[in-house]
Amino acid sequence: MNITFKREVYIERRRILKEEIGTGRILLLGNEEASMNYADNHYPFRQDSTFLYYFGLDKPGLIGLIDIDRDEDILFGEELSIDDIIWTGPLPKLTDLADQIGVTIVKSKAAIINHINADIHFLPPYRGEQTITIGKLIGKKVRKVEKRASKKLIKAVIAQREIKSPEEIREMQIASEISHKMHLEVMKAARPGMKEYELVGIASKVLYDHNVGFAYPPIMTINGQTLHNHGHENTLEEGRVILFDGGGESPSHYAGDITRSFPVGPRFTDQQRQLYDIVHRMYTESVAMCRPGVSYRDVHARAAQILVEGFADLGLVKGNVDEAFALDVHTLFFPHGLGHMIGLDVHDMENLGEEYVGYGSGMEKSKAFGWKSLRLGKELKEGFVITIEPGIYMIPELIDKRREEGIYADFIDYDALEAWKGVGGIRLEDDYVIEADGASMLGIEMPMSADEIEGVRAEAF
Ligand code: GLY
Ligand code: MN
Ligand code: MN
Repeated sequence: MNITFKREVYIERRRILKEEIGTGRILLLGNEEASMNYADNHYPFRQDSTFLYYFGLDKPGLIGLIDIDRDEDILFGEELSIDDIIWTGPLPKLTDLADQIGVTIVKSKAAIINHINADIHFLPPYRGEQTITIGKLIGKKVRKVEKRASKKLIKAVIAQREIKSPEEIREMQIASEISHKMHLEVMKAARPGMKEYELVGIASKVLYDHNVGFAYPPIMTINGQTLHNHGHENTLEEGRVILFDGGGESPSHYAGDITRSFPVGPRFTDQQRQLYDIVHRMYTESVAMCRPGVSYRDVHARAAQILVEGFADLGLVKGNVDEAFALDVHTLFFPHGLGHMIGLDVHDMENLGEEYVGYGSGMEKSKAFGWKSLRLGKELKEGFVITIEPGIYMIPELIDKRREEGIYADFIDYDALEAWKGVGGIRLEDDYVIEADGASMLGIEMPMSADEIEGVRAEAF
């Protein structure tokens, strides 16, 4: 097991957290192995990201406790027994691992109960066994645990983790780089007649070659209009667009989250290219807007306006474009948000609550269709890493429903739209770090415009 950063990094992260919380104790649960279909058959282990951030150890069965008043950081876990070593082989001693993250007190998990008092701060659990563990420790029924999670701790952790340090950005660069290389391999390999799952195989090989895995289940589909389409059984048919939303982790578990959309054949159809060009404009103008002090909700709104303007040029939106935008006409074709924070989690810290991670300081998340799916609305700060991921989707069921309901009848030419209903979905997505004077893309130079994408596809044939 590699520990990503120097011990001073973890000591400093915990020091800042202690200072922010002021008094009491902070409980940070590491993850346990998760069983797949019987107890000893596990999903690949994924450490809890907040535990990884403050305690750095990528290993199941650990708990961290920070006692602010006594200024003690304690690691709870068990040294391996000979029974364990028979199965796992010799591994470093827990005390040695603790030393590498600047922790000098290591105790058996049975001792943790002696360190729990009424002034304990913990984060909202997202796995059943975390809820049970916390419930037992604090003597509360499981249904009461979530409510008792510490808002103060949630806000302090977000304030720290949302600003990526230069050494974290280096790790995120690695994640985006691996992810971009994976996308290029897929883009070069796709041929009519192949199955979507063969492309997933090609993508997986790139990740395995780097000894890493997907940061989230990949979307590889000729039906990109279905937003979270995790089936991979379709045959690639000429005339369709492949939407691949896939990201690898860095070996240190930072996420990449990248999307490209490209034709199954060497060229886009006219309709696909027209939609692609609008998405590309939404993307480039969004990138140009991002800088510290700009609210991401405004960037999302501008991307949505560009969509409405583009659809007016195509004759699909009629009437006044500002009025059409004010009525949320864009949500018919762009029902998700422009992006989200990314870091150790692909949707960074989503387990801590979108209302704090993506909003706050007087800005609340909208409940309106489309807008409710915008995970990040608040003002950007230097050091944020975010995704920028505009898309256009022709979702026949949604178009038919809105038409039946008579919604947007004054602004959408539903008859003209009939000819576009089979175009599918197009999304572009990259990961950007917010710097003092703008947004800078992580990863490697990638084909992006329709011409560049067709250039790569032409070479492939
Ligand atoms: N890959 C999930 C997302 O783009 O948010
Ligand atoms: Mn994303
Ligand atoms: Mn994505």
